[in-house]
Amino acid sequence: RGGLAALVVAIVAVAFAAAPAAADPIVLRFSHVVAPDTPKGKGAEKFKELAEAATGGRVRIEIHPNSELYKDKEELEALQLGAVEMLAPSLAKFAPLGLPEFEIFDLPFAFPSPKALDRVTEGPIGRTLLARLKDRGIVGLAFWDNGFKLMSADRPLRRPEDFRGLRMRIQASRVLEAQMRALGAVPQAIDFADARRALETGLVDGTENTPSNMATQKMDEVQRYATLSDHGYLGYAVIVNQKVWEALPADLRAALERAMREATVYADGIARAENEAALAAMIAAGHTTFLRLTPEERAAWVAALEPVRAEMASRLGPALIAELRRAAA
Ligand code: LMR
Repeated sequence: RGGLAALVVAIVAVAFAAAPAAADPIVLRFSHVVAPDTPKGKGAEKFKELAEAATGGRVRIEIHPNSELYKDKEELEALQLGAVEMLAPSLAKFAPLGLPEFEIFDLPFAFPSPKALDRVTEGPIGRTLLARLKDRGIVGLAFWDNGFKLMSADRPLRRPEDFRGLRMRIQASRVLEAQMRALGAVPQAIDFADARRALETGLVDGTENTPSNMATQKMDEVQRYATLSDHGYLGYAVIVNQKVWEALPADLRAALERAMREATVYADGIARAENEAALAAMIAAGHTTFLRLTPEERAAWVAALEPVRAEMASRLGPALIAELRRAAA
């Protein structure tokens, strides 16, 4: 009799272990490539906090920063395969999904102000771009800001001629490639996870990024000069696997949408100050000399980069470029 009781206990135990307990949360893995202490990293943390509170703990957001799971090239595949549920890749990195039009955000000097940028991401262009993700099994939840980029190298970059022959690390975007070529540099697309090392070992001479990315990767320790050119924008689309998203109970999805709206306000709200603080910290550290362009120097950069728009028209679509020009004006 004792043996039978033990067997019953064992069977019941196995049954309970196999069936997920009702209280088991749904886990959404959110993978990204930058440090936690960046606008995107902090935006992800804020989303986690808001999402878990709004769902009463029924959803758990598991953040994997610093490419600890996947690098740039792999993370989009991982999302589509269901190996992670959420990402926030830079808008420069959507071409592998067959969506090169996201690269309009890489066009040099395309956004005269942060307001112009908001008009684009929050207007019809932004909505249309996010809607196109649907065919790829992806839902676009929001755009998040990082900010405007500087150019760094081991030599001062004041005029377009200063770029001649420099190997410059870029994100894998054809528009950024064209931008570097227009300046006479040699672009090299390298995953973000490997960018710092590429600068340190001399595989490349320079790069472009926002101050927050430069500082958190300690790129200032391996770049002697940086020009505060604000020549281009770096921002993100927060995306989620469509099957997973649509399988969520409607009340949870609504709560997560609310959390994402609030996290977006937060992320966009801190981005500028984060970048200013990162720049101040790098200036104080004194490894890199930061240069500002005179109006004449800036005009020379604008003139050198003007042809990129026409060159990229067939890739991005002339109608979209014209729409961008109107929306950002
Ligand atoms: C880069 O590769 O430089 C950026 O896209 C990294 C990031 O996610 O901000």
